[in-house]
Amino acid sequence: MTRTLSELPADLAGKRALVRVDYNVPLDAGRVADATRIEASLPTLRWLLRRGARPVLLSHLGRPGGRPDPALSLSPVAPALAGLLGTEVLFSAPCDGEDALRASRELKTGQVLLVENTRFLPGETANDEALAGRLARLGDFFVNDAFGTLHRAHASTTGVPAVLSPSAAGLLVERELEALSALERPRRPFVVAFGGAKIGDKIELLRRFLERADLILVGGAMANTFLRAQGFETGASLVEEAALDLARSILSAGEDRIRLPTDVMVLDRAGGEGERAGKVEGVENVDSVPADAIGPGMAALDIGPASRARYADALRGCAAFFWNGPMGLFEDPRFAPGTFAIAQAAAEATAAGAFTVIGGGDSAAAVRRAGLSDRVSHVCTGGGAALEYLSTGRLPGLDALTKRIAQTGPGG
Ligand code: 3PG
Repeated sequence: MTRTLSELPADLAGKRALVRVDYNVPLDAGRVADATRIEASLPTLRWLLRRGARPVLLSHLGRPGGRPDPALSLSPVAPALAGLLGTEVLFSAPCDGEDALRASRELKTGQVLLVENTRFLPGETANDEALAGRLARLGDFFVNDAFGTLHRAHASTTGVPAVLSPSAAGLLVERELEALSALERPRRPFVVAFGGAKIGDKIELLRRFLERADLILVGGAMANTFLRAQGFETGASLVEEAALDLARSILSAGEDRIRLPTDVMVLDRAGGEGERAGKVEGVENVDSVPADAIGPGMAALDIGPASRARYADALRGCAAFFWNGPMGLFEDPRFAPGTFAIAQAAAEATAAGAFTVIGGGDSAAAVRRAGLSDRVSHVCTGGGAALEYLSTGRLPGLDALTKRIAQTGPGG
């Protein structure tokens, strides 16, 4: 069992709470473009502040590859957090230096300290013990509330609790696990929808869902990979070549439970200026074609109308539903209908009594954009973490908290 905040020692006044949060938030022109993950961290921070603890926050932002990248600095998050929390938020860089240590020691009750992106240092993703030790100096106890990062065994997630105690899971982690645990032994039929572009990360997890889901609806670039694995032409669509064999073995193991789009919305590049950095510009030749008729110049960017109807229909009778990854390039209105159809069908299934969980940044953003966040059972702040938890029942960040308790006993 993982310790929760209420199981920490009663007197936290004046103690530095080193809190791992997930502030991997989208930035636009140096400002936070979506504060959902910051808002999700507020209950834990308020809980700590109310008890007189002094929060020092660790987070990553993006994938800077172990070196500083000004475009991925956490500094714009400090004013955004200050505005939401109504508290002074100080910022210090780098995350592991003497300046950060001094700032943590000088932090006054009521203030919060945010330190720079942990992934600016190569030791973070390598789970370097020395870095974990330097980070651990910033707190008197540790709280992991970074639900979206619990599937990563990094210095700030698993390294710190190995050397700093007591440690506990935060309120966001508690809330997310409570929602996901309802899907560990889901009511049936249990329907899962998989989409998005992070195919390499997710296809293995999809395979594990075969054991527990009654039906898996596949969309997005994930679907292109399966279509290609079946021998279809996929033209200029995004396909994960390295995953084709795995896709084939998944299909042969669970063909009866996997649904692929029978039609797709394509952008026919042959007649236009094409696609740049994921954004489609200035091209009007968008069409729906059967999934077995994608031409050489075409890029499939959404599921087609027949597939939308078929997938929505599949959701109608479900008792539990989990969705990770959009059905297409929904940021472009021409390729948004597939994703919005799933969001709408999830809301309708919820109204009919199903337990529905939306997991992951993009699918959560789509549900928000459709104005349906309040009409599903739970919107998760971490897609990768939710997937890993549901498919393996474990998360390294959680295990690290549990292990520490096992080693030291409930007293810390
Ligand atoms: C996420 O956005 O899923 C989490 O913050 C983890 O980010 P990562 O996939 O770069 O580790």
